[in-house]
Amino acid sequence: MPTNLFDHALANPSSRFDEPTHLPRLLNAIAGTGKWISSEINRADLRDILGSAGSTNVTDDEQQKLDLMADKAMADALASTGLVCAMASEENPDLIEVSDIELHGPYAVAFDPVDGSSNIDVAAPIGTIFGIYRRVRGGGPGDASDLLQPGSAIIAAGYVLYGSSTICAYSVGDGVHYFTLDPTVGEWTLTRESVKSHGDSLVYSVNEGNSKAWHDADVRWVEYLKSNGYSGRYIGALVADFHRNLQKGGIYAYPGDRKSPSGKLRLLFEAAPLAFIAEQAGGAATDGTQRILDIRPDALHQRTPLYIGNSDQVETLRSFKS
Ligand code: AHM
Ligand code: MG
Repeated sequence: MPTNLFDHALANPSSRFDEPTHLPRLLNAIAGTGKWISSEINRADLRDILGSAGSTNVTDDEQQKLDLMADKAMADALASTGLVCAMASEENPDLIEVSDIELHGPYAVAFDPVDGSSNIDVAAPIGTIFGIYRRVRGGGPGDASDLLQPGSAIIAAGYVLYGSSTICAYSVGDGVHYFTLDPTVGEWTLTRESVKSHGDSLVYSVNEGNSKAWHDADVRWVEYLKSNGYSGRYIGALVADFHRNLQKGGIYAYPGDRKSPSGKLRLLFEAAPLAFIAEQAGGAATDGTQRILDIRPDALHQRTPLYIGNSDQVETLRSFKS
């Protein structure tokens, strides 16, 4: 059994892709950029790439220097595969254009190159998130409709976690495969394959600093968790909180509230790809009333409330919302 990421994807072809080499090439671009991001953040303080780039993205979040560098590196790597027709990321208001490269491949990719970027300056975990879709219509350059698909149309998704280890997880709809970056050889090495389960700890991860603006159902739900044996853990980087809860058990929440009715997180770049992974691992994800993967976005940067983790814990949340 091959243990490196590219060979593993090549040896396990998915009928969701036109050719056996397509997924490995796309993963190579994404995880290869992840390797580069990992090495950049390890030396960020030494390379003067900490701090703000002095700009904001379309949802008014301050952009860090690394956000912009990683965004360009990811877009260039994906475009150079020749396999994508459209790309969108959290850092760009519209579809991404890449100079000198026409995008007319069979797939569309949504990504958040550096999620949790406010953690960069304090050497805390951050992540990359991606979701891959089939293009909607024939040939030529793609358009927004190739990305404005419900998460149930995702054909592969995953994340890279830059933590005390650098982990890449992906799924093509048959469990989750985990790889760890061995920095001594620069290789992504398989650690667990086709995992369809998660831990069973009782953990909730939510920014309780926002609780004054929460709706009553969320307040009552968190009070219930506190009275029923749950521990709180909040890193403030979705990929890190999600990965921990996936391994150990738990639920992550970013509710909509009276200040931000749709919450903070973006459906296309954050919620849908991780919902796909959660379901593959036997978990669930909802906006409180609707399964995340059933929501069809109207706009690239659409936000959604998100509750994601163990299915029984998500079900408990839903009972407070109904
Ligand atoms: P970002 O994409 O601008 O980094 O925002 C998303 C991040 C998530 O990773 C994290 O869970 C959340 O924002 C934390 O938000 P807050 O600081 O409001 O708790
Ligand atoms: Mg993000």
